[in-house]
Amino acid sequence: ASARVPLVAGNWKMNFDHLEATYFVQKLAWLLRDAHFDYRHCEVALMPTFTSIRSVQVLVEADNLKIRYGAQAVSVTTQGAFTGDVSADMLSQLGCSYVIVGHSERRKYHPEDDANIVDQVRATLTAGMQPILCVGESSEEHRQGIELDFAVGQVHDVTRDLNEEEAARLIIAYEPVWAIGTGQVATPQSAQEASKAMRDDLRETFGPHVAQTVRVLYGGSVTSKNAMQMISQPDVDGFLVGGASLDAEEFARISRLTE
Ligand code: G3P
Repeated sequence: ASARVPLVAGNWKMNFDHLEATYFVQKLAWLLRDAHFDYRHCEVALMPTFTSIRSVQVLVEADNLKIRYGAQAVSVTTQGAFTGDVSADMLSQLGCSYVIVGHSERRKYHPEDDANIVDQVRATLTAGMQPILCVGESSEEHRQGIELDFAVGQVHDVTRDLNEEEAARLIIAYEPVWAIGTGQVATPQSAQEASKAMRDDLRETFGPHVAQTVRVLYGGSVTSKNAMQMISQPDVDGFLVGGASLDAEEFARISRLTE
């Protein structure tokens, strides 16, 4: 077994206003407390919209909760005339631990290219947070059977610009695009293979410390029904959960499987 602490992160995408977010956090905290959940064995995190982060922070601080949280994207600049952007410092001041970077929906609907993704990773690290770098093949690459090379390549495009200390703080989420929101989950074997391939690449580039430290999450139609088999894989260190993270009971069940 690895020494890596699993991470279960809920990517809420564009769901929940600040009141719904507050209600959800209270309910999740209560469910996990009731189950005597041990946060030392599994990190649990929520990724609300920008507009809900402050509400989550207030609640987490007031009730001294162990639930962590983060943002779904970040600006690559630090401040100034960038209408609509939110800086990494602003997020870390709100107590964010993580920032999702390069989610396939951001790559698709926003001009997030490799250079922008590297800059978001760097901005996140500089502000003292951990990037959750999303990679994964589309159905086309999947059909061609080149998913491993593709995902490893996407990671490599980012890590080649990082030093060893920066790379060690990265979290990777392997999310095959065809599995996102479709109910078509990858097989545990293919999630393991992809995670291992990415870890092997990290070992080659940075050596054993980085390879053993970086957590690789699986994302794409995760539910409490398929999570157990996934988390049993040696190189899968948790989940980035979309749809199932919008139901507190289901999200608590998934978290408890990795405890
Ligand atoms: O970031 C998580 C996400 O893209 C997976 O979504 O709804 O398939 O769990 P979902």
